[in-house]
Amino acid sequence: MIIDISSLERHYETPAGVVKALDGVNLQIEQGERVILLGPSGSGKTTLLNCLSALDSPTKGNYRFKGKQVPRSDSEKMTSFRRENIGYVFQFFNLLQDLTILENIVLIQELSGKKDPQRAQELLALVGLYEERNRFPGEISGGQQQRVAIARSLAKRPALLLGDELTGNLDTLTSSKVMEILVQACDQENITAVFVTHDESLVKYATRIIRIDSGRIISNEIVKTSG
Ligand SMILES: Nc1ncnc2c1ncn2[C@@H]1O[C@H](COP(=O)(O)OP(=O)(O)O)[C@@H](O)[C@H]1O
Ligand SMILES: [Mg+2]
Repeated sequence: MIIDISSLERHYETPAGVVKALDGVNLQIEQGERVILLGPSGSGKTTLLNCLSALDSPTKGNYRFKGKQVPRSDSEKMTSFRRENIGYVFQFFNLLQDLTILENIVLIQELSGKKDPQRAQELLALVGLYEERNRFPGEISGGQQQRVAIARSLAKRPALLLGDELTGNLDTLTSSKVMEILVQACDQENITAVFVTHDESLVKYATRIIRIDSGRIISNEIVKTSG
């Protein structure tokens, strides 16, 4: 089991009182699963992803990753947990504009001590952008930039890949292309993935569908055998 979460809570203090963004989440995910996390705006999806990646610390509850307690409150340990284990794809691609596409990918590898330009180029080939490797992000389309962001997220061979509304900025056709590339890459490398969305049409890419509302999981369903 790669992710083992029990009774997780994340509270926010606001002038209007305490908001329980997560209110008792229990979740077990096996290696190689591809989870789509669905829920309305404000239901706690981003909060859960931030806890999964140790960008944020839960207020209560347990989170074990590959059997080990995930660090919390110690920001240095949280950062090294992320560098070692987590790949992330955002809605806004967050590519560095002054670096070429290839340099954007190699930079992430360097940050986690896994520099491997050969792999960076193979990943660009996988997402269909090898020819564009020496161009700058501003010189390619939004869909292409998101494919670069995917290659970047895989560059250090993360154990866990997370996406927050990663197709939110793309048209339907480009979204499906991007998701197909992701599914192929995850299958090929046996990467566990959790993708947050409010787009129901993405459920076909999942091996498990989880629905969240008001900080609680309201359904959790395996749809195909992973791998
Ligand atoms: N930094 C914060 N301070 C106060 N409340 C927050 C903060 N971040 C999120 N929340 C609240 O927590 C709840 C869950 O938010 P979020 O995880 O962003 O939902 P989602 O990603 O599903 O739209 C919402 O009610 C939101 O207003
Ligand atoms: Mg969100």
